[in-house]
Amino acid sequence: MITTARSAETRKICDAERVAGVRVGFVPTMGALHAGHRSLIQRARDETTFVVVSVFVNPTQFGPHEDLTAYPRTLDDDLRICEAEGVDLVFHPDADEIYPEPPRATIHIEGLTETMEGAHRPGHFDGVCLVCTKLFSIVGWCTAYFGQKDAQQLRVIKQLGRDLDLPVDVVGCETIRDADGLALSSRNAYLSTDERARALALPRALRAIENGSSLEEGRSMLADVEVDYLVMVDPDTLEPVAHGPALVCGAIGVGATRLIDNVTIA
Ligand code: PAJ
Repeated sequence: MITTARSAETRKICDAERVAGVRVGFVPTMGALHAGHRSLIQRARDETTFVVVSVFVNPTQFGPHEDLTAYPRTLDDDLRICEAEGVDLVFHPDADEIYPEPPRATIHIEGLTETMEGAHRPGHFDGVCLVCTKLFSIVGWCTAYFGQKDAQQLRVIKQLGRDLDLPVDVVGCETIRDADGLALSSRNAYLSTDERARALALPRALRAIENGSSLEEGRSMLADVEVDYLVMVDPDTLEPVAHGPALVCGAIGVGATRLIDNVTIA
């Protein structure tokens, strides 16, 4: 496994692989890798020949009052996981490598980013789009794997690729959950035992709605947590809808931790 913190080296290696006729698979991450990330890597391993993982806690997607400095950084463990999963190249730049000067470019996807996470985290998706555009530009033509767990992000990245003709095929991958139903997230590490027990209300409410309960019934199951939103939206436009086919997306605060999750209903 090759590891590098350099954009130029990553670009050179990926270019050489493509010249040799190899299909590059790419899994962008912020590290603190868990079984959700591993499932994306495994899908990339199955479908492509040269698998690249980036590990970069992207400062431009964090708001001023968010957890940028506290975000878990576990590069040694991440490298061990990547090695075990048969990753070919890990790109782990520091912030100066990606942003040698404050970026003046803004990439804003209109219409898909005003609601849900976009409404609660102003500028978040602009930061995600900026870093993904840069990472896609460094890695070059590839198939990129994103989790359905971050459904709005996946939808926004697909639009980004289309609107900017980026050399990337975006593939969405199913949400991986713990045995108790909680969607895996690097932020779950912040939860105390009591908070984790309360956080389970979100997957339970989503599961109930999936099985026919109304949004109101789902909301009433979230009495013990702070609810940012629980909405049913069109999977393509992300506009509110009254019935399926739809995404039901929720975001809750438990203590100081914010968690998101979603299910698809037919
Ligand atoms: P991060 O939160 O590290 O997630 C990296 C990828 O793993 C994302 O595509 C996310 O949807 C996916 N993922 C996270 N939890 C998952 C789960 N339980 N099941 C399946 N997939 C899961 O998302 C980001 O980083 C960043 O915004 C990034 C795209 C890297 C840009 O900085």
